[in-house]
Amino acid sequence: MKVIGHRGAAGSAPENTLISFLKGLEYKVDGFEFDVQLSRDGEVVVCHDERVDRTSNGMGWIKDFTLQELKRLDFGSWFTQLSVYQEIPTLRELLDMFKTFNLELNVEIKSGLVQYPEIGEKVVNLLAEYGLLDNSIISSFDHQLLLDLKQHFPRVKTGILYDCAPIKPWLYAKFLNAQYLHPAWHFVSSELVVSSAVFGIGINTWTVNSSFAAHKVRTAHVARIITDYPQCFRKGANGEAIWLGL
Ligand code: G3P
Ligand code: MG
Repeated sequence: MKVIGHRGAAGSAPENTLISFLKGLEYKVDGFEFDVQLSRDGEVVVCHDERVDRTSNGMGWIKDFTLQELKRLDFGSWFTQLSVYQEIPTLRELLDMFKTFNLELNVEIKSGLVQYPEIGEKVVNLLAEYGLLDNSIISSFDHQLLLDLKQHFPRVKTGILYDCAPIKPWLYAKFLNAQYLHPAWHFVSSELVVSSAVFGIGINTWTVNSSFAAHKVRTAHVARIITDYPQCFRKGANGEAIWLGL
């Protein structure tokens, strides 16, 4: 059972910024989940929201800023009263930072409110350039995007994100030729894990931030736990991730 830092270590540092990922490394994560969008000039940038308002001192849509304009905003200081100025990272900057660590990466492509042209291809090409494609899972709530990506790049591993209770989602994952299902933790069960395994599909779940959630997904034996608090888990004798408390 792997422990994956959500947006870096979003419980301890401003999400999706370099200090959040450094915190995660300090907490010895097995890997990171992070979200990507495209700037106006087509750069892959790391940010959860389609707009910069919540996590920066700016206002507006990421798609309307050039990278240079985004780089002038502070994505750190909203998180605490201490000033922790942080630039928005590009995917390339993150991969530069990760290349010397043996990390699993879960790149979540944001596509919904805004549809970004060729974002999937850009992500795959960058991961391939850094030799990190085989260590990576590309996930999205946009399942058509994942299907198209898989058809163009059969080597890519895809994860189907969902936050509901579909019927036999392992059949859906098989239909989409995906390798993983990425349910919200509420929708994890032993039946989901066992039935998915029959079809060769693994279960990675989010965002596991409490004792209750951690117990539920551990007893179901999911493959990966995505959490804002990677420091709150330790590995048990069988490799399972045990919640230590906040
Ligand atoms: O990828 C897991 C999780 O991050 C999905 O939801 O909104 O936190 O990106 P969200
Ligand atoms: Mg995400």
